[in-house]
Amino acid sequence: MNRKDFIKSIGAAAGAPALALAAGCGGAGGEDAAGGKGNPSFLQLAKSRYSVRYYAKKPVEQEKIDAILEAARVAPTAKNLQPFKIYVLRSAEAISKINKLTRCAYGAPVVFLVCHDRSKAWTSPFDANDNSAVMDVSIVGTHMMLEATEQGLGSCWVKYFNPKKVSAAFGVPGNLEPSFILDAGYPLKGAAPNKMHFERRAVKDFAEYR
Ligand SMILES: Cc1cc2nc3c(=O)[nH]c(=O)nc-3n(C[C@H](O)[C@H](O)[C@H](O)COP(=O)(O)O)c2cc1C
Repeated sequence: MNRKDFIKSIGAAAGAPALALAAGCGGAGGEDAAGGKGNPSFLQLAKSRYSVRYYAKKPVEQEKIDAILEAARVAPTAKNLQPFKIYVLRSAEAISKINKLTRCAYGAPVVFLVCHDRSKAWTSPFDANDNSAVMDVSIVGTHMMLEATEQGLGSCWVKYFNPKKVSAAFGVPGNLEPSFILDAGYPLKGAAPNKMHFERRAVKDFAEYR
């Protein structure tokens, strides 16, 4: 979809939202194009997600994998540099390999190995050590994780592996760093959130109005 069609599709052929898009950096704030206060189903989706650590053997349909990858594709990245690459591990060989490299693949039939590329990512002109690659790839992963939920799949975001060993095992080139894996599949019957899922701080403990 090009920019013109997109603006039309959000019902903003003219006016503030279109201007905010054109400005490229924030609008005047206020209500969205539909005059609403956000989509109520988003929070329901986010709250229904939990880390699934038991998977059924049932294979994941290609359309569902495609939807998850599409969610990755449309994720925002700093300066739109898209400094990431995703390996979809689902062959018996790849799944067996990843299970040897981490105990946290949990029998998932599909494991996304998500890598970032610092050399392609944006670096802050205010701090040469401030590179956006990890932030970018985290947004990509969040899109994927929530799309998996939308598709009726379980998922688990996993950092518990040695990135050097994972790179060696899957022939990941030197410019890419394995950032995390995202296990995905149908939850095993009886799978449930663990204790940590329910341990969230209250909004008042992290949000401060000034
Ligand atoms: C950056 C990150 C790394 C994580 N690494 C692991 C991991 O290595 N193994 C694991 O079982 N879960 C891992 N998790 C899942 C968290 O433990 C889980 O999201 C958290 O306890 C909240 O539970 P919930 O996802 O069920 O709501 C990770 C999550 C994030 C965001």
